[in-house]
Amino acid sequence: NWDGSYLYQYQGFWCPSRHIHGTISFQRRFQAQDTDIILTSFPKSGTTWLKALTFTIVNRFRYELKDSPLLTTSPHDLLPVNQIQHSTHNQTPTLEEFPTPRIFATHIPYASLPVSIVNSNCRIVYICRNPLDQFISNWHFLLELREQTKEPISLDEAFEMICNGIQAFGPIWDHVLGYWKASAEKPHKILFLKYEDLKVGINFYVKKLADFLGCPFSKEEESRNVIEEISKFCSFDNMKKLEVNKNGRLNDGIKTKVFFRKGLVGDHTNYLNSSMSERLDKILEEKLGGSGFTFKKP
Ligand code: PPS
Repeated sequence: NWDGSYLYQYQGFWCPSRHIHGTISFQRRFQAQDTDIILTSFPKSGTTWLKALTFTIVNRFRYELKDSPLLTTSPHDLLPVNQIQHSTHNQTPTLEEFPTPRIFATHIPYASLPVSIVNSNCRIVYICRNPLDQFISNWHFLLELREQTKEPISLDEAFEMICNGIQAFGPIWDHVLGYWKASAEKPHKILFLKYEDLKVGINFYVKKLADFLGCPFSKEEESRNVIEEISKFCSFDNMKKLEVNKNGRLNDGIKTKVFFRKGLVGDHTNYLNSSMSERLDKILEEKLGGSGFTFKKP
């Protein structure tokens, strides 16, 4: 992988070595409950944002925004997600203690989700992002992770790899199509979101998420502008400036600031020349052709 770790071909996707044990034990041992919420995404597609939004929406009667645990804890450490995927065989945490609804998140493709997630009545929310922006976001993220340890891999080398579908949890086109098709078949179970749509109309999507998750906003809440407040609270600018997200570290040691870089749509135009963008666009067109799915372009 670009961060110097290994990628294994596992069940048709590229699984990072540090996720192998966690993935297998998640598949074998995870028992979904009907009330669970499973957040799913390709890395660097809006996971952190979706975690913050979902946590805030479903816990809005437990915590007022001024007392939100998100003020002092990274969205990644609030959910048991990292503990699942990063866990090893003998370290799978006890998940029963998490309050209902339990919120989990994973980057695992739809076809590799634990069967109990697919078969139970739990809900899945998926978020995707334009692969060119996703690539640039991931490129910066992995440069940060590699700092001090390894020579940085060149942008050209990394780009060549993604054109061949080689990146953690990739190929991205298979990942997105897996969830896209499943959401078309089971729209009540799987909500499919695009990062770019949230960027232009976040209030609409906060409401949509709440409806989908079975905790719609009342007229009274709407009149108090609760939706707008949640949108603002979880916004990039607000989250990025919190001390915990500026200078903190996750439980696993990663600096929290690497999850908040620019938060923009179209940043790839600052890094990829037109022949690179055209090449990847063409690959995506071929891979997605006929599915009815398209990524948003800036
Ligand atoms: S990860 O590692 O998979 O959890 O990363 P992920 O959160 O999916 O992606 C990180 C990118 O999302 C941006 N980000 C946000 N955008 C909008 N609003 C909010 N609240 C937000 N939080 C994080 C983050 O800056 C990364 O994108 P880039 O383009 O690198 O800025």
